[in-house]
Amino acid sequence: VFKNPKEASISVAHRIAKIIQDRQLNNQHAVLGLATGATPIAVYAELVRLHKEEGLSFKNVVTFNLDEYFPMGPTAAQSYVYFMKEHLFDHIDIPAENIHIPDGTLKLEDIPAFCLAYEKKIEEVGGLDMQILGIGRTGHIGFNEPGSAPNSGTRLVTLDDLTRRDAARDFGGKSNVPTKAITMGIGTIFKAREIVLMAWNQKKAPIIKKAVEGEMSSEVPATYLQLSDNVEFILDEDAASLLT
Ligand code: F6R
Repeated sequence: VFKNPKEASISVAHRIAKIIQDRQLNNQHAVLGLATGATPIAVYAELVRLHKEEGLSFKNVVTFNLDEYFPMGPTAAQSYVYFMKEHLFDHIDIPAENIHIPDGTLKLEDIPAFCLAYEKKIEEVGGLDMQILGIGRTGHIGFNEPGSAPNSGTRLVTLDDLTRRDAARDFGGKSNVPTKAITMGIGTIFKAREIVLMAWNQKKAPIIKKAVEGEMSSEVPATYLQLSDNVEFILDEDAASLLT
């Protein structure tokens, strides 16, 4: 538990930088699972600063984003492709071919093959070194909404009504928020060698309490993280305030 989101974010960014540098020493790729949303923005800002001011290179980094709305074009302001460029990729030296984000422009019938290929690519590069996560107020990680199975893979999902309400501001009203998304599964996330879930602010306190102290249930998918030995929750004092 950190005093504030900024200190927490800097600490997560420095852990990511350490993975990148350790891998560089061995001429290996660092494979990162990335999240969007408000939570990781300061982590990305610190990584950009480390690149610009301290020479951290991302040439050996391969990334896989957790999710993307469906349907969603890459140039739309609400797309996760746009988000990642704006907050990270446009400001660092990662090779474009190393970036992977679920494709919101696919035809419906092509989604299952795309999802299998996404999983396969993660395996082919040696698996995720670290997966960073936010948490939705439904308890979703990625877009694994209530009802998701612990062994689920990358797939097309239906977004929970609360998730769509929380996204309404970005889309100018809930009716404009897509009803679907493509997301890595809980099983996909579990394969990461380290999982770091971040949450800030009072409004996340109730779901953090459920995720950490509640009974494990598909009704709160983040409770499945209780099964992992490789997970850490990085919280600010407000998000941690209801923990006993
Ligand atoms: C984003 C994602 C979501 C968000 C969650 C929290 O890629 O997978 O699970 O992490 O909805 O969003 P924020 O950070 O905006 O509160």
